Amino acid sequence: MTKRVVLAYSGGLDTSVAVRWLMEHHGVEVVAVAVDVGQGAGAGGEDWEAVRQRALAAGAVEAVVVDARAEMAEDFCMPALAANAKYEGRYPLVSALSRPVIVKHLVAEARRHGAGAVAHGCTGKGNDQVRFEVGTRSLAPDLEVLAPARVWGLTREASIEYAARWDIPITVTKEKLYSIDENLWGKAIECGAIEDPWNRPPEDVYTMTVPTATEPTEVVLGFESGVPVSVDGRPLRPEPLIAELNALVGSYGFGRLDVVENRRVGIKSRETYEAPAALALLLAHADLEDLTLERDLHHEKVRLEPRWAELVYDGLWFSPLKQALDAFFVESQRHVTGEVRLRLDRGRCWVVGRRSPVSLYDHGLATYDATDTFRHEDAEGFVRLWGLGVATWAEVQQGRAGGAPGRAGR
Ligand code: ARG
Repeated sequence: MTKRVVLAYSGGLDTSVAVRWLMEHHGVEVVAVAVDVGQGAGAGGEDWEAVRQRALAAGAVEAVVVDARAEMAEDFCMPALAANAKYEGRYPLVSALSRPVIVKHLVAEARRHGAGAVAHGCTGKGNDQVRFEVGTRSLAPDLEVLAPARVWGLTREASIEYAARWDIPITVTKEKLYSIDENLWGKAIECGAIEDPWNRPPEDVYTMTVPTATEPTEVVLGFESGVPVSVDGRPLRPEPLIAELNALVGSYGFGRLDVVENRRVGIKSRETYEAPAALALLLAHADLEDLTLERDLHHEKVRLEPRWAELVYDGLWFSPLKQALDAFFVESQRHVTGEVRLRLDRGRCWVVGRRSPVSLYDHGLATYDATDTFRHEDAEGFVRLWGLGVATWAEVQQGRAGGAPGRAGR
């Protein structure tokens, strides 16, 4: 029986060439698996039937399209939101979140089709190869992983020629401007003129954050235990909620990032991102935590968040530490319930109000007006004890005479 390989298929030039290349060089049958994680959100969506037909025309024995949008939103974007996940403080892990979703389905399809290997179209320079391979190893250590694009050494022109030689139907223009990776959580744009970190990204790189709205507006996001559940009081599941926010927030031109980032493989790269919904949700969610998380829990959580983002960025979605941190974050979200009011205006999105039935903000304690309930007399002794240690130090070791307050009895 011919050996089978399950290939992560996007419908683009590289993975189309990969179908034929794997057949030719490994003598295998290829099952193409395309996973819909919300690609093309900024441009009306992907034509998945066309993608499927292209895989078959390229030589695949089977082509499967998996709709993983709801799963992506609920099981991957929501945990990232709970973790306020931003790699190196800025990048909301767009591509890093979709790879483990894709891996899950590749492994499932490999089992279903009796394949002994999975394959991906990544080159050797990026993070995505790491995520595909480490992810696959974590779920199915017995499967082999093939990375044809890391081996074949084809330039873009050579790939186009290869496709033509094998009648592989591709829709590429000679001068493809950017390399794009896209899902519900946002879009990564690389290559072309923006490979020079000094160059301002041309307007044509942006599709999700084209500023068309002219009047400022406000939107109220409702959260339950850290999960966004409504927009202006309308209940929505995570996937449609993210989609709606991408459209709304994006129309104000908010959600762009231009960063230099450290890849796992040691390369610094200039990255341009659009993530309007993700960045607005992250703003709102973190703000609601300010209102509802007890101080120590909040401070500890903030220390753990960057670690979670690093693990996921580095391809360790399926790992014991990531799992354990998830358990901590789930527990931390129990009371992150309430509403956040965002204001949108010309490229900006910011929080202008928040409220919660379990808010730890106590007006009586915070106010300076007559309704004050704070016991002022408690403050004096508290502050004296708080400073007792340094006062003693000042007197004894710094030779600052005068008798530290609170040491009067000595
Ligand atoms: N630098 C980002 C990351 O590692 C974006 C990667 C985009 N992937 C791609 N195949 N174009 O997550």
